[in-house]
Amino acid sequence: MAGPSASPPVAVVTGAGRGIGLAIATRLARDGLRVVATDVDAEVLDAAVAQLRGQGLDVAGSVLDVRDRPAVATLFERLGAVRVAVNNAGRASRLLPLRELDAKSLRDMLAVNVLGSFIVAQEAARRMPQGGRIIQIASRGYLGGAGAAHYVASKAAVVGMVRAMAIELRWAGITVNAVAPGMVDTRMLDDFTPAMRRSLESREPSGHAAHPGTIADTVAFLASDDAAQIQGQVLLVDGGKSVGMPPL
Ligand SMILES: NC(=O)c1ccc[n+]([C@@H]2O[C@H](COP(=O)([O-])OP(=O)(O)OC[C@H]3O[C@@H](n4cnc5c(N)ncnc54)[C@H](O)[C@@H]3O)[C@@H](O)[C@H]2O)c1
Repeated sequence: MAGPSASPPVAVVTGAGRGIGLAIATRLARDGLRVVATDVDAEVLDAAVAQLRGQGLDVAGSVLDVRDRPAVATLFERLGAVRVAVNNAGRASRLLPLRELDAKSLRDMLAVNVLGSFIVAQEAARRMPQGGRIIQIASRGYLGGAGAAHYVASKAAVVGMVRAMAIELRWAGITVNAVAPGMVDTRMLDDFTPAMRRSLESREPSGHAAHPGTIADTVAFLASDDAAQIQGQVLLVDGGKSVGMPPL
């Protein structure tokens, strides 16, 4: 990506302490970017950064709550020209049937998944050079799902924002796209009981949750020069479950 003497382009990844975010930070660092891994959880972040540096990768850590506008602005101000911003930090929760879904659960979900990713995308875009990449981690859940109106609403909002931001930022030479994973094997699945998890996995075309690295591979593609013409898209990475039902 960068010439031998140029300093490597910088990528910021949110929620990079574990799961999909850690896989993305790992992959982008292996691709030669200087990665700033951020997470609200200092303990998991420290462990992740130590692990990546132990592999000889160019990674710095910064504790960051994506809901904290001043902290996000300060980070991007300090970093200067960030080439890639990956908005991965997100929350799920136990399934809550519509009739039991309370305003607080909805608000808490939107605060991280929507407002947080908006703040990061906006602060990144304000300083991003031509060729910049904003990549939002949505979810196949944006298409709908029972017991998850709060999660579905949050991820549908992420997709809506991507489409709006893409139109505005294409004139600045910045692409904005979303990756929408199906079920991925991370701690987020701890919100489900083992029985529920087995049932959900059996409905995946592969029969199991995907490895976080498969999502990182797609993010790496969108972050690369090869994806310069991909703008405002949602890439579903779910083994085809979203395409339709299996044959009878
Ligand atoms: N695991 C799945 O099946 C799946 C499927 C589709 C989409 N996703 C999405 O992928 C993303 C990553 O999920 P994961 O499965 O790796 O989850 P995870 O729970 O393993 O990791 C999420 C990370 O985000 C961090 N985080 C939470 N709130 C934050 C905040 N306010 N500020 C900064 N960091 C915060 C957590 O500390 C954690 O390290 C999320 O946006 C999630 O919605 C996950």
